[in-house]
Amino acid sequence: MQIKLSWGPLGYNARAEFWLKGKVAIITGGARGIGAATAKLFALNGANVIIADILDDLGHGLAESIGGCYIHCDVTKESDVESAVHLALTWKGQLDIMFNNAGISGRNGSISTVDMDAIKDILAVNVCGIVHGVKHAAKAMIKRGKGGCIICTSSSAALMGGLASHGYTLSKEAVLGLARSTACELGVHGIRVNCISPHGVPSEMLVSAYRKFLGNENLGPEEVGKIIGESGSLLPGRSGSMEDIAQAALFLASDDAGFITGHNLVVDGGFTSAYSKLSLIYQ
Ligand SMILES: NC(=O)c1ccc[n+]([C@@H]2O[C@H](COP(=O)([O-])OP(=O)(O)OC[C@H]3O[C@@H](n4cnc5c(N)ncnc54)[C@H](O)[C@@H]3O)[C@@H](O)[C@H]2O)c1
Repeated sequence: MQIKLSWGPLGYNARAEFWLKGKVAIITGGARGIGAATAKLFALNGANVIIADILDDLGHGLAESIGGCYIHCDVTKESDVESAVHLALTWKGQLDIMFNNAGISGRNGSISTVDMDAIKDILAVNVCGIVHGVKHAAKAMIKRGKGGCIICTSSSAALMGGLASHGYTLSKEAVLGLARSTACELGVHGIRVNCISPHGVPSEMLVSAYRKFLGNENLGPEEVGKIIGESGSLLPGRSGSMEDIAQAALFLASDDAGFITGHNLVVDGGFTSAYSKLSLIYQ
């Protein structure tokens, strides 16, 4: 439950309120990491949450603990995503929030030797998976006629080169383009489409990437968080957390973000906004 300040005739009033009371949300990639943190926060705020993932044990367990539902959903398969949306409609009769969050990191290496099958694999999840989610959520929301909110997970890698593999970088940039074009089309139906671009969150995905870069299989989330806090953020000692991204998703999903669409909410500790190595000039 959040304590919120709302603007009233006499100024700001504090009130306790569930931000997503009664809303129905699907979270792809919701079984672990950022998606799982968001599923918990959405549920705490009164939402009915459907976790759509391929990690069945984790997904089932989490869904049970938050009073939600789990569905096996490989986002590369359009019919799986369609089934997840169908589940929302049969379970609660509506879909209010679609968080297209499932993603994979892809293989690193030179563009001169890039494996086209690996590129196709990453695009299948990170781009086609998101197209499937936006398509079927939009279809259900348009049919119901009461608007809705679609959030897609992009990345700091869409804003700055050198942060991830070529395939991942291009896939996350594509997500930004899709969110802008669909925000343009769907606004007339009261459907908002936004992106969140996380950075430096020591999830399984990021930790395993760091293990490979640094050749250290023993690296854990704390160490990765420390590295990011030292060199991947404008806030010394602070890396991203799954909860930081979940809070951003909660805000975008809530009615308080009702005038925000076509936006990319960058949650990166300022990393992509400044060249921090020259910050000495401010001393
Ligand atoms: N961790 C970061 O710093 C960071 C930075 C930028 C963007 N992101 C993005 O955030 C999102 C969540 O990643 P995370 O960091 O929590 O990593 P994660 O690996 O912990 O979570 C990814 C989730 O997506 C699921 N998934 C993968 N392929 C799927 C498929 N085909 N169908 C359905 N689900 C699938 C996984 O099972 C997992 O639950 C991803 O889109 C990722 O690209 C993360």
